[in-house]
Amino acid sequence: MIAKHSKNSPDTAQQELPLCTLQKLGSTVVTVRDKDFEIYLSEKDIQTAIRRIAAQVNADYAGLNPVFIGVLNGAFMFLSDLMKHIHGDCTVGFVKASSYEGMESAGNVSFQAIDGLAIEGRDVVVVEDIIDTGNTLKALYEQLGQQGPKSLRVCTLLFKKEAYKQSLPIDYVCFETENKFLLGYGLDYDGLGRNLPEVYILKN
Ligand code: IMP
Ligand code: MG
Repeated sequence: MIAKHSKNSPDTAQQELPLCTLQKLGSTVVTVRDKDFEIYLSEKDIQTAIRRIAAQVNADYAGLNPVFIGVLNGAFMFLSDLMKHIHGDCTVGFVKASSYEGMESAGNVSFQAIDGLAIEGRDVVVVEDIIDTGNTLKALYEQLGQQGPKSLRVCTLLFKKEAYKQSLPIDYVCFETENKFLLGYGLDYDGLGRNLPEVYILKN
């Protein structure tokens, strides 16, 4: 269970909740389990960046009927908001990836296509919440590449440039970020925090 509360309007019921509950203190700090996170990107910052990136994607894919592939679970919120600003014919698909445990990259990445992808001959845009080491993206490109797409690009909300270890181009980036653990807007810490409309950064 996730609960939020504000310093300005304390909810006495919250005081009884155990540590594993997400607490939102005022509008700037959230606590998830044992970690504190502070606001990094506001809802407004995020939505403005999404409209800017969508305009670029619209220009590049005009008349091409691209397929957008969201990488679950993290990309669900970004994909949803991005798609509202994409014009013209396009389709949407999903793959489920797992590469992270807690705050560390687990190295081995595996994918499961949801309902088949049908990307042969298509212009594919992979939609990611965050590119960190790039291991997930590389593994996904290898898998998708075998299905004969016409083109393959990536659009990510967040890019930890300093942590990136691969050489694949990152085509569309909403924000380059610090190399620290981030939370919210689809990104989780131990399963919690994906529902936050803002992005938070681990406090020192
Ligand atoms: P990569 O393979 O190292 O590029 O990591 C890719 C995946 O790890 C992302 O799609 C996220 O699901 C997860 N991830 C990477 N960095 C963070 C973070 O700062 N917070 C939460 N999840 C992260
Ligand atoms: Mg992801």
